[in-house]
Amino acid sequence: MLIDEETTIVSHEAAGPGYRFLVVAAPKLAAALAPGQFVHVKVPSLESSALRRPFSVFDADPAAGTVTVMYKIVGRGTAALAREVPGGKVMVLGPLGHGFPVACTGTPLLVGGGYGVAPLHFLATRLVAAGHKPILFVGGRTKDDLLALDRFAALGVDVRTATNDGSAGAKGFVTDPLDDALIELRQTGGAFELFTCGPDGLLKAVAQRAVGTGRPGWISMDRHMVCGVGGCFACIQKIKLPNGEVYNARCCVNGPVFAAADIVW
Ligand SMILES: Cc1cc2nc3c(=O)[nH]c(=O)nc-3n(C[C@H](O)[C@H](O)[C@H](O)COP(=O)(O)OP(=O)(O)OC[C@H]3O[C@@H](n4cnc5c(N)ncnc54)[C@H](O)[C@@H]3O)c2cc1C
Ligand code: FES
Repeated sequence: MLIDEETTIVSHEAAGPGYRFLVVAAPKLAAALAPGQFVHVKVPSLESSALRRPFSVFDADPAAGTVTVMYKIVGRGTAALAREVPGGKVMVLGPLGHGFPVACTGTPLLVGGGYGVAPLHFLATRLVAAGHKPILFVGGRTKDDLLALDRFAALGVDVRTATNDGSAGAKGFVTDPLDDALIELRQTGGAFELFTCGPDGLLKAVAQRAVGTGRPGWISMDRHMVCGVGGCFACIQKIKLPNGEVYNARCCVNGPVFAAADIVW
């Protein structure tokens, strides 16, 4: 059931250069959200605009009754949102979309880029609570693109990084440390599943590895969204059905998470 909750901003802090953590008191949503789902936020100072902004859920804590998103300031909506202060009210709609499966066979390998680590963090909290030991692979152009690493480390997640300029972690692409881990797992016969969110190039690279190794891969697609609830067809992604037919899935209701083997790139 969809909830459009009037939330109160609890904190609103920097999450890195140009990024913010927005924490809102939202007890109903905090209890209802699952990893990989997203929320649609109405930016208060843009009340005249009917359009909301979609954000992945970075964390939902039912005990504290809080929901956290981590966002990048990229345009009018996120710039206006960044000016909101604790105590302010924000309408938040959710839970939206289908998220990641939390039952996982073997080691969960989480692969993120940019704000794509946001849904992976919520996923990691639930995987760790279920007794899994996830490994996070995160990449960016420079160290400034590696976000929220301390939050993953605090969960006990094994974090492996790569940057294009070598300013943090391995120099190169995040797929390099991922491939090293895949080789090691293949040698030891260890089972794993892949979970990813980030730029399209990364999603495709991870999906290829899932399909190539015959292991499950769960891909969170970032598509421009308008309504967020299935009505406008702005967020189409071609997906294969079990009978081989291809259909136009709407990322907001059929996704944003899809099985790697089903995506038509
Ligand atoms: C399911 C989903 C989850 C998302 N999760 C997050 C998140 O956790 N953190 C976060 O920072 N952002 C996330 N986004 C992207 C976020 O919704 C957009 O950055 C935001 O709506 C931009 O609003 P704006 O008014 O500031 O920018 P606009 O003025 O509308 O656009 C500014 C620039 O951002 C680009 N942009 C807008 N929407 C997207 C998009 N969906 N993907 C890529 N580029 C976009 C535009 O093309 C333009 O170049 C998510 C998007 C989706 C669909
Ligand atoms: S955003 Fe309108 S159908 Fe997906």
